Amino acid sequence: MTTIDRYGVMGYPVSHSRSPVIHRLFALQTNQHIQYDRFQVTPDNLERSVRQFQRAGGKGLNITLPHKNEVARLCDQLSERASTAGAVNTLSFRESEIHGDNTDGIGLLRDLDVNLGIALEGANILILGAGGATCGIIGPLLEMQPSSLRVANRTIDKAQTLADHFSRSGPVSACRLDMVPVAEEYDLIINATSAGVRGEVPPYPEAAVSEKTFCYDLSYGHKPTPFSIWAREHDAARSVMGWGMLVEQAAESFHIWRRVRPDTAPVLKQMTITA
Ligand code: ATR
Repeated sequence: MTTIDRYGVMGYPVSHSRSPVIHRLFALQTNQHIQYDRFQVTPDNLERSVRQFQRAGGKGLNITLPHKNEVARLCDQLSERASTAGAVNTLSFRESEIHGDNTDGIGLLRDLDVNLGIALEGANILILGAGGATCGIIGPLLEMQPSSLRVANRTIDKAQTLADHFSRSGPVSACRLDMVPVAEEYDLIINATSAGVRGEVPPYPEAAVSEKTFCYDLSYGHKPTPFSIWAREHDAARSVMGWGMLVEQAAESFHIWRRVRPDTAPVLKQMTITA
């Protein structure tokens, strides 16, 4: 009899998560026998729920908001990228140990570089927001050797802390969201704030957008996000939502767990069609 290995995603809330659909499509495509479920887990219950899943023989979990930082504490081992980010989105249960990894950064890079063909080396990059999402992507973006990477945040202290933390890895600086310097043109603006999720439209920096700026929203939805609408209204070269990053980070988790790399293109197409 074929055994079915169990995986899942834990978050709060989690009902909106598309991860089960994506992992089922990967499993179908690569002939892997897995079950992948959603688990709504409050912060109080995170440790208990992870350990219960592990005891019940579960093989791996994706961890989403708001648990990505907290869950790092439960890991016996962290990958270098998870420890640099200070955040974990992929757990693997191996014997009695918990391994934590972070596939968000590589997911974004694959989407920008491979799927969208954006040149990151030598680029001027602006990231809006300085929360958990930004922590996961700064390190991998700096590895691509941009000319500059600026983090703009409503609360300047958080942007400055991140800039200080990553300053040894590349040319990173901080500023306030409403005071973005525009002496140089930005090739890429990434929205990593959670404002759009709550339907809020912060003072995005109009002067930072030109007709050569590529705008990327880490958020995604079946309708254009407030940031992607804003980018189009300000004549950005292109405006894209984060469906590609979502599928690519899932593919990297799938590869960690199953040692098989799924073809992301058909899954991405299906997700955006059925979104
Ligand atoms: P995530 O893990 O998704 O990044 P987070 O850690 O709560 O979530 O961070 C959310 C980010 O969105 C923060 O940078 C936050 O700015 P503050 O640090 O000033 O709170 C930003 N954000 C959320 N709502 C915003 C709004 N209405 N205007 C501007 N920035 C906003």
